[in-house]
Formats: sequence, structure tokens, C-alpha cells
Amino acid sequence: MIIGGSRSKSIAEDLSKLLKMPLIDLVSKRFPDGELYLRIPEEIKGHRIVVIQTAYPDESIIELLLILNAAREANADNITAVIPYMGYARQDRKFNEGEPISAKAIARIISIDADDVVTIDPHKEYISDFFGIPCKVSSAIPLIADYLKDKNIDMVLAPDKGALKRAEVAADILKCEVDYLEKTRIDGITIEVTPKKLDVNGKNIAIVDDIISTGGTIASSIEELKRQGAEKAIAACIHGVFAGNAIEKIRNAGCDEIVTTDTIPNPFSKVKVAPLLAEMLKGK
Ligand code: R5P
Repeated sequence: MIIGGSRSKSIAEDLSKLLKMPLIDLVSKRFPDGELYLRIPEEIKGHRIVVIQTAYPDESIIELLLILNAAREANADNITAVIPYMGYARQDRKFNEGEPISAKAIARIISIDADDVVTIDPHKEYISDFFGIPCKVSSAIPLIADYLKDKNIDMVLAPDKGALKRAEVAADILKCEVDYLEKTRIDGITIEVTPKKLDVNGKNIAIVDDIISTGGTIASSIEELKRQGAEKAIAACIHGVFAGNAIEKIRNAGCDEIVTTDTIPNPFSKVKVAPLLAEMLKGK
């Protein structure tokens, strides 16, 4: 049986159809003080339960924990937490003394009531180890590359060296060139892209990253590309967070199209991850 949290309802519906597994509709409401109440209105004792909920923003994490606990308290046989987007994953280590390893903290509380986890493109693959229970990771980059196939892409660009591996996977599928930019993060919202001569004049470029958050990384990359004469710049990512005025920032930089998956529902969720999740769940 499948239970979809409020942030991942449409993925839950897609998965229920693909896997031919019944979808349970949660009963939920807010208490007067804003706290969440929920109930699984069906008998799930002894069943294998798949709970789908993106771990972003904070209230979605609380909802995920409550659903997992409700399933545990109802004596489900096996509980899989499907987390399309794992929030807090960018604080995956202590950058300064006194900081938490936020990704580890969130992973640990999810593990209390889940038996195993399935997630897509966590910011770093080693985050899967933080759960302490089996965690299956897969990448939606091939799905993004499939979407880009009819866009006449000449080059895939990684906005920084860390994103190069993902860009190479996409370039391989699109059979095109690949390159990367040198990015320096000054603070949470300020990005500096070191000018680097790229062979982009008159070309169609897809910038591929795992996350677009403030849009600073993608906007600076597009500005650099357009400055060097790129014809078209498509911003492609797995997880579209789009914090604050990210969309406006990216558009003002001259972006021709934005595409993301539906791990975080947003106006550019053109690529569905349910087929990938269905394959991951079948193999379990
Ligand atoms: C960084 O390591 C990530 O891969 C993304 O490049 C980053 O999270 C994007 O953030 P923003 O949109 O705020 O520049």
C-alpha cells in the first residue's frame, strides 16, 4: 500500500498506478495551535507500506515522521520511506566547529520508524550512510537528459567541478560536449563565477545541476554563457527549490527555459520521477 504525504501527492498517485498498489488517502487537519494531526484510515497491519514524502520544507519533515510513526503504530510489516528530495542535505558535514551535521540529524530521525529508504540524487551519495538502515539511491539525470533530447543541445555545462559527474552523464546520453565553470560561493546568496573561456559561441547549452535554490549558481553561469555568445541557455536540475526570487533572477540572467523533475512540485516540474522510483521499489 502507498501513502503519499501532502508534498508528494502526485508522485504517490503516479506510483500507485505504475506499481498497481492501492493508494491510501490520509485524514489530516491542523490543530488550533497549528500542529498537524493525521490518521491512516485503513487497516494496514501486516502490509508492506511505502510512504512518499519529500523532506522539504520543515513541516513536510514533521509530516513524514508522523506518517511513518502512524504506520509503525498500526503494525505495518515493512515501511519504506521514499524521499524524492532529501532536505538539509547540503549541510552534510561540519563546515565550522559547533555546527550540526544536519543531513545526519534528519536521516537519523527518519530511520526511527522506517525500515528502509529510497531517495533520488541526494546532494552527496554518502548521505545514504547517515540513515543507518538500508538506503537505495538513484539518479534522475538520465530522465532530464531524455527530456533535453529534442532541444538540440550542443554542450552540457556543470556550474562547478562538483557537478561535473552529473553533467557528464547527461552529455553522454545527449552525445554532446561537456565542460564546467569555476564557482566560488561567497555566502548563502552570493556566487562568483570565475570567467573561463568556453567554446559556446552560437551554441545551445544546458546547465545541469542537482539543486536550484536561490538561483545564484545558475544565474551567474547563464550570465557568463551569454557574455561569451551562447545562443540558448537551458537551466536543468533535479530538485527545484526556487527560494525567494530565484525564478526572476534566473530569467533576468537570460535563461531560455527552466526544467526540473517533480521531486519538489514547482511550475517547471516537467520530468516525472515516478517511473524511476517504481523501478527502485521493484528491485527491493
Ligand atoms: C551546490 O553544491 C549545489 O550543487 C547547487 O549548485 C547549489 O545548491 C545551488 O544553490 P543556489 O541556487 O542557491 O545557487
